[in-house]
Amino acid sequence: MKEITFKVFRYSSNNDRGNLVEYKIPVRKGMTVLEGLFYIKENIDGSLAFRVSCRMGVCGSCAMKINGKHMLACQTQILKLNSDVITVEPMNNYMIIKDLVPDLRRFFDNHRTVKPYIIRYSDPEEFENPTGEYLQPPTDVEDYLQFSYCIKCGACVAACPVVSGNEDFWGPQALTAAYRYIADSRDEGYLLERSHISSLVEGTFRCHFAGACSDACPKGVDPAMAIQLLKRELALYSLGLTKKHKKAGFHRIDWDVEPPEDAPKPPPKSV
Ligand code: FES
Repeated sequence: MKEITFKVFRYSSNNDRGNLVEYKIPVRKGMTVLEGLFYIKENIDGSLAFRVSCRMGVCGSCAMKINGKHMLACQTQILKLNSDVITVEPMNNYMIIKDLVPDLRRFFDNHRTVKPYIIRYSDPEEFENPTGEYLQPPTDVEDYLQFSYCIKCGACVAACPVVSGNEDFWGPQALTAAYRYIADSRDEGYLLERSHISSLVEGTFRCHFAGACSDACPKGVDPAMAIQLLKRELALYSLGLTKKHKKAGFHRIDWDVEPPEDAPKPPPKSV
């Protein structure tokens, strides 16, 4: 077995700046960074805190900064990093609760605010039978499939330079979630429920297309692409030219109208 040095960021409210603490751990072939953290917790220092659930790259809990890049710890093999020193830090752009555990409240507030579910108005009978299927041609699935692979790990927001300079920006995850439903031909919520969100000052057009979110995404979702498609959709929307406009019989939008009373508001900032 090879011995590798882990430099792990330790932070608690008693230790207000945080610091990197070194641990030497034996590493076998195939061992992941997450397993390295478990080795430390079980054999060296049980007070080390990190998030984990599925251990198979599905739940998104274990996103952290490993040797300077945002990755899933359970999907990152230590020996494949080709380094005798592995630095493990919490994700950027979040408050830290303890050690490697970020505060994701604002992230999930933003996600919820874009109404990440199918909204229907056209067929009231569906409300009486809410378990029925909404049929859709297979070709329509391609419009949003890639964007539905998001596991909400938060790595895209951590990597985003706009979020790091402007905490009011909605961030790549929430905007990608908005586009995923806007592009879904079964959804009818766009015109009334989501256009006001995505066109807000701190929404879609605040993205500078740095592309760091897409580099960081462990699932290949490509949030930067989703945001550019959202910009195009909003431009077409302002001209009354989207597919959904035509379907719904809407015409050119008047941007001076007030949002509907029940339109979502930006979430409160996390404390
Ligand atoms: Fe679920 Fe890593 S533990 S993605």
